[in-house]
Amino acid sequence: MEKELVISRSDLAKRVMELGREISSRQIEKLLVVGVLKGAFIFTADLVRAISIPIEVDFIRVASYGSDTCSSAEIQLGKDLETSLVGKNVLLIEDIVDTGKTLTWLKEHLRDRGAVSVRVCALIDKRQRRQEEVEIDYCGFLQEGFLVGYGLDYAERYRELPEVYRLKTS
Ligand code: IMP
Ligand code: MG
Repeated sequence: MEKELVISRSDLAKRVMELGREISSRQIEKLLVVGVLKGAFIFTADLVRAISIPIEVDFIRVASYGSDTCSSAEIQLGKDLETSLVGKNVLLIEDIVDTGKTLTWLKEHLRDRGAVSVRVCALIDKRQRRQEEVEIDYCGFLQEGFLVGYGLDYAERYRELPEVYRLKTS
């Protein structure tokens, strides 16, 4: 499939450093960073190395049905956290916020599990597509269209690309 470069390696590295600095400046106690698999695995790995306050790291896996370019409302928990959330301030790391349904579901799930607070850091916000209002505390980039690379896939392809590309639909 044809694709065009939208976020370069250096833009990603620069923004990740800025986000890491911003997160670290808040001096949040008992901070648990939760990466959302699979899409946020590379972003999470880069971001935690840009954070300079003590943190714990865990991962959660959710799947919205289908492997197409359309996100769906059906959200399933694939792998839950292995860390207790009681007394923890959670920083959820998402790849993309599209309709907002996954994030809304995740925030509720983490609060139910006993998190004191749940903040969100998203690499990409596709704000125009939002169907559910959900707050993003730290946002990397605003984008449109279907994106791949840097962890993001289309039917499990392209995750390994070091940059972010937009797939051309025509
Ligand atoms: P939402 O529930 O509609 O906000 O969908 C969020 C999830 O859909 C993200 O975590 C991604 O896994 C997936 N997604 C949405 N847009 C894209 C995209 O452009 N590329 C790859 N995955 C996407
Ligand atoms: Mg995802």
